[in-house]
Amino acid sequence: TTVSLEKTIYTLGQMEKIPEPQIALAGRSNVGKSSLLNCMTNRKKLAKISSVPGKTRSLNYYLVQPGNFYLVDLPGYGYAKRPKSERNVWGNVMEHFFTRNKSLVGLILILDCRLPPQTMDMELVAMAQAISVPLLPVLTKADKCNQRERTVTHRAWVDVLGPDADPLFFSSKSRQGRAQLWNEIHNLVQA
Ligand code: GTP
Ligand code: MG
Repeated sequence: TTVSLEKTIYTLGQMEKIPEPQIALAGRSNVGKSSLLNCMTNRKKLAKISSVPGKTRSLNYYLVQPGNFYLVDLPGYGYAKRPKSERNVWGNVMEHFFTRNKSLVGLILILDCRLPPQTMDMELVAMAQAISVPLLPVLTKADKCNQRERTVTHRAWVDVLGPDADPLFFSSKSRQGRAQLWNEIHNLVQA
């Protein structure tokens, strides 16, 4: 598999219709979206990561070959230390990305395995349901959780998402969940 950064989008004006299927990586700031992308692609420096929230500032389109689809690394939500003007621009770009995008075939919802469901996570779930885009819930940083914490968080998400949901445990550090997530991504692209 080869993966390359094809487009970087900061503003509404830069948005264009992209016909190839897209799968978004969405979640709170610092949850590990960019790390997950790097882990999935075996490329430590493909996407920039940081221990400081707010690292990813643009929509980054990574083309996956073979397969001819995009993984789109998004800026995190819930990071308040940004000027309001910038947050509004971000909100408009994200809204456009989610609601005017016929090529969006799935949303990988990246969640912190150590935390109960957060308000903004629930808002994103509601948004994905409103636009009928399939959700792949992923509980990341699993290497930092013991079995008891995992069970509690998994159960809390099943309560939110319904009994058919089975959030996938993942770790960019131990690479737990990587093969299964690739399977689920390919299933979405082929659906
Ligand atoms: P923004 O772009 O700011 O929204 O953040 P992000 O969601 O892309 O997070 P990023 O990948 O930059 O990672 C944030 C921090 O979490 C970094 O310090 C990573 O090393 C760490 N991290 C990410 N995934 C894991 C994981 O699975 N396990 C552990 N232990 N640390 C992780
Ligand atoms: Mg990032």
